[in-house]
Amino acid sequence: MDHFLYRDGALFAEDVPLSEIAAAVGTPFYVYSTATLLRHYTVLDEALAGTDHLVCYAMKAASNQAILKTLAQAGAGMDVVSGGEYLRAKAAGVPGERIVFSGIGKTADEIRMALTGGIRQFNVESEPEMEVLNRVAGEVGVTAPITIRVNPDVDAKTHAKIATGKSENKFGIPIARAREVYAMAAAMEHLEVIGIDVHIGSQLTDLAPFELAYQKVAELTGILRADGHNIRRLDLGGGLGIPYARSNEAPPLPVEYGAMVQRTVGHLGCEIEIEPGRLIAGNAGCMISEVIYVKSGEGRDFLILDGAMNDLIRPAMYEAHHDIVPVIEPEPGVEQVPYDIVGPVCESGDTFAKQRMMPPLTAGDLVAFRSAGAYGAVMSSEYNTRPLIPEVLVKGDQYAVIRRRPTFDEMINRDSIPEWL
Ligand code: LLP
Repeated sequence: MDHFLYRDGALFAEDVPLSEIAAAVGTPFYVYSTATLLRHYTVLDEALAGTDHLVCYAMKAASNQAILKTLAQAGAGMDVVSGGEYLRAKAAGVPGERIVFSGIGKTADEIRMALTGGIRQFNVESEPEMEVLNRVAGEVGVTAPITIRVNPDVDAKTHAKIATGKSENKFGIPIARAREVYAMAAAMEHLEVIGIDVHIGSQLTDLAPFELAYQKVAELTGILRADGHNIRRLDLGGGLGIPYARSNEAPPLPVEYGAMVQRTVGHLGCEIEIEPGRLIAGNAGCMISEVIYVKSGEGRDFLILDGAMNDLIRPAMYEAHHDIVPVIEPEPGVEQVPYDIVGPVCESGDTFAKQRMMPPLTAGDLVAFRSAGAYGAVMSSEYNTRPLIPEVLVKGDQYAVIRRRPTFDEMINRDSIPEWL
């Protein structure tokens, strides 16, 4: 569910017409709905009600300060994967005790930053990382709370580039070696083992792989407790999918996910953490773009937009589907025509959709890419010297630019010319 709906023939974000924002900030741009962000956070939070839990938003999905602050004020924790994300979370007012640090390549500097600034826990992914963490914690003079991310060797049945829970993936330690690695951790002076972490992939549209992984975590909890470890927190990762093609996709509901969590690990008396990114931000954001040209090709027509793969890379990178809808609602019964919808970047990969049925459009029309709130703006680049596009946050009838478009001078002046030139 989201708050991008047609009203009187025009697409709105909450109570603001998207055409009004387009006129004010120019296209392309990202726009987020506060109500949708909060709704998704709340639905997840409520799905885990009855269990001691914390929803740690995986801020890699959309990390604008205004989005983080919106969620932090609602009580969310954050899952961060870099020193930069840690600093962003802190800058948005998230206290250290609500920040978990994930990722396979945390550097000593990043670890030091988090230990000094305060951290809820590190999700440790390897023995060498554990050794560095132990050393740095000793230097800082603190004890680092850790979970160890186990790789349960479960097929998440999602796109290969975003599956993380099979043994061939680079993530976590093989679950079969968990006892050995937990024993190593327990012997380290500056670490405190508090729990287990698992994350098997992203955009999962079936509960079965989660269930399998969580059953393995439950079993491991018993084994590790018998070994003498005080396992009291389970971080169950993120990954619950969203409907990208609304006409034919219905991923599991958060409430079904919550019931499954309860069923698999609820009896263990552990505090539960989840790390959803896409489920919170995905359908809370759209990318709005303008048709520059309609070009007739050999047996096909191209809609050439001012937005491109550098602004929204998901279709080029993961063959991802985004619903694309006109900002002016088509008249009922209007005959749809097929378009290849493309951006202006000079490679054929800059294609958003092929032979997509749309109402007839002309230059100057606006379109909205739905479900672009997660992994949209954060993955954008300035390829082809195209400025990073603005981000706008709507709340009711108000909107604000939360990241402005850089000027060309700012972009060019970031380069420096060596003195020999
Ligand atoms: N926790 C960890 C350790 C993760 O690696 C991820 C995502 C999440 C949580 C959040 O997963 P989510 O709830 O958003 O599915 N750029 C790709 C998605 C990459 C996901 C990476 N890790 C895309 O656009 O589909």
